[in-house]
Amino acid sequence: MKSEILTLLRDRGDYVSGQELCQRFGVSRTAVWKAINQLKKEGYRIEAVQNRGYLLLAEEEVYSQNALKSRMGTAWAGHPVSFYKTLDSTNLQAKRDAEGGAPEGALVVADMQTAGRGRRGRSWQSPEGVNAYFTLLLRPEYTPDKATMVTLVMALAVAEGIRETCGIQAQIKWPNDVVIHGKKTCGILCEMSLESDYIHYIVAGTGINVGQQELPAEIAETATCLEAECGKKISRAVLIANIIKAFEGYYEKFKDTLDLSGLQQEYEGLLVNKGKEVRMLDPKGEYSGVAEGITDTGELLVRLTDGSVTEVYAGEVSVRGIYGYV
Ligand code: BTN
Repeated sequence: MKSEILTLLRDRGDYVSGQELCQRFGVSRTAVWKAINQLKKEGYRIEAVQNRGYLLLAEEEVYSQNALKSRMGTAWAGHPVSFYKTLDSTNLQAKRDAEGGAPEGALVVADMQTAGRGRRGRSWQSPEGVNAYFTLLLRPEYTPDKATMVTLVMALAVAEGIRETCGIQAQIKWPNDVVIHGKKTCGILCEMSLESDYIHYIVAGTGINVGQQELPAEIAETATCLEAECGKKISRAVLIANIIKAFEGYYEKFKDTLDLSGLQQEYEGLLVNKGKEVRMLDPKGEYSGVAEGITDTGELLVRLTDGSVTEVYAGEVSVRGIYGYV
């Protein structure tokens, strides 16, 4: 009920009487009063005026389960949402939840991770109070060969969520780093649980540098945070809700065809590598070419010096710009 009260107060932008709240939620005045007090304890500033009711004052960044739940305008993605002050890793928690029977769409969010995981076995620095770390649980019916596309779908959703929340156009470094002004601001790690040709579940984990201005030395040159790029304070709850909403739409499109044909154009429009010379860090040997776009199953199309076009599979190679990260 707390998150619904919050949504109502926010949408109304004016006083809502205690009586209306009691009627709407079928509870007593004491129950409403208790819920309001709990929201205040979470950090919300709510004014109570006799004969007028409750008014939500200008919202500062409250980052909590109710902050997220009250903004989740989706049908299935982000339901339920669980919020933790600290976790080892939201991917690990989502996997534990999946093993315990959590449904498709369940979302795990943490303010801080003590064992954040990155791609290729790397760790993901996850300090408290500044960034967004979240993992969405999917229970697909498609075969494992389609799963690599989910990271590209999430990258599109992150770019759209950033555009909606911060008003700036992020780009995508194939396959799934989201960059702003050429610097990485988001990483995505999808992991799946498989049994022969059957997917038990996928966890799509996303980490976004939102307000961490001081970045570790090893990534300071190639990474950035949203607030530095857009010059304003960003609500992590709003950002995540916007990303999950975008993901729901894009994922439904992906499921219609089980490929990226419906999203390819939009993805290529955001592809930072497009038309640029890229270096492929292939374990079998480095080579370079010009990135031309993606296939409808998400491989990068690269024109080589001899004029032929090769398809590069995500996971096999890393892509770098000829002069640096993009
Ligand atoms: C990358 O290396 O680019 C991927 C980083 C993914 C980090 C996110 S943070 C939320 C989720 N939980 C994790 O442990 N990892 C992902």
